[in-house]
Amino acid sequence: MANIVVVGTQWGDEGKGRVIDSLARTSDAVVRFQGGSNAGHTVVVNGEKFVFHLIPSGALYPGKKCIIGNGVVVDPQDLLLEIEALRSKQIELKDLYLSSNAHVVMPYHKRIEQIEEERRGEQRIGTTGRGIGPAYADKAARRGVRVADLLEKGVLAEKLRINLSFWKNFYGLDYSAKDLLHQYLEYGRKLKRYVTDTSLLVNRLMQEGKNMLFEGAQGTLLDVDHGTYPFVTSSNVVAGGACTGVGIGPTKIGKVLGVAKAYVTRVGQGPFPTEIQGKIGEILKEGGQEYGATTGRPRRCGWFDGVILRYAARVNGLDELILTKLDVLDLLDKIKICVAYKYRGKLIQDFPFELEYWERCQPVYEEMKGWKKDTSRIKIEEDLPKRIREYIKRIEEIGGLPIRRLSLNPERSEFLSLY
Ligand code: IMP
Repeated sequence: MANIVVVGTQWGDEGKGRVIDSLARTSDAVVRFQGGSNAGHTVVVNGEKFVFHLIPSGALYPGKKCIIGNGVVVDPQDLLLEIEALRSKQIELKDLYLSSNAHVVMPYHKRIEQIEEERRGEQRIGTTGRGIGPAYADKAARRGVRVADLLEKGVLAEKLRINLSFWKNFYGLDYSAKDLLHQYLEYGRKLKRYVTDTSLLVNRLMQEGKNMLFEGAQGTLLDVDHGTYPFVTSSNVVAGGACTGVGIGPTKIGKVLGVAKAYVTRVGQGPFPTEIQGKIGEILKEGGQEYGATTGRPRRCGWFDGVILRYAARVNGLDELILTKLDVLDLLDKIKICVAYKYRGKLIQDFPFELEYWERCQPVYEEMKGWKKDTSRIKIEEDLPKRIREYIKRIEEIGGLPIRRLSLNPERSEFLSLY
């Protein structure tokens, strides 16, 4: 197995957690490279549900290194709670590593996010409220607090002084520097044993020939550069983000796997050309249990969108696609796949760049008959109904990508291989 990057090809929630969990078995280390506790990866093991926000999903295997790279924004309180929650289930994180360069989400970031969302009114992004955008904004503005700063009282005190005075002038925020200093030094003390130069660590591991798995959070359409801006998250979600978010060169990446749900979902505001209103949307929402792992918000549901698949294949350089949650379509009489958009009478094959297009375009659909069979217990390719194979084949053709694995069941081990 080469060094693999796994990314979402839609608006997040494609089922990457399970894919990572399954690939982690044959990896030596799982590395997060962007996002923060806005992400929520759910893995079900023997009926027990595990939700990860910051800790890489490989944590469920003893002896695998779990690495949080510099591109992640870390809320230390969330991270400590997550470590504690795993410990309470007898999962000890002996091999957790946290980049000293990762930026820290502070309480004022969450408050800033709230204020900005309120001010946007109708145009709000529908963020997860985890302080992600403001933490990345402080990083880009070169005043952010980094994990290493939590270990240095003088540095942290000075950064807090500068930041609190800035945000007091800007939004009238009033936080006690003394209290924050005390609280965050305490977090630093608790996290110190995990803090290291993760770029050095990952590069060394690769030199030793270890198998690395780079775990993307969110999805391509939420990428700050390549997504449906401004309705995006604030990091580089695409595969290239693994290089900057970990400190490795692009030549080190062996393979990029995309994960797509057999339909599409989105949480938060923003354009969604294939969104379905009404009964079918409800079937997908309930059948797929489409409620956010982080916020519990119901997800908007829609038909599979081939335009965004082609786009995700391009901007990520996908080698292969993994299709999840196909069983959720079992009940449907008819299934649609969007193959292009129409805007003012013009056919659009490539994902458009302007918000105006996404908001006003009409999806062009191909319609297929549903397979109307319970597929959730199917274990081998030969048992797949003919129509499900046709559906898969059509998605492969549209995306120009092979599909070698799919899931028909939320259980951890249940991935079906295709040849
Ligand atoms: P933020 O990342 O909290 O700033 O939210 C920005 C947008 O990204 C919102 O539409 C969120 O709903 C969406 N988002 C962030 N993280 C996830 C995720 O893990 N899954 C799905 N959507 C997400």
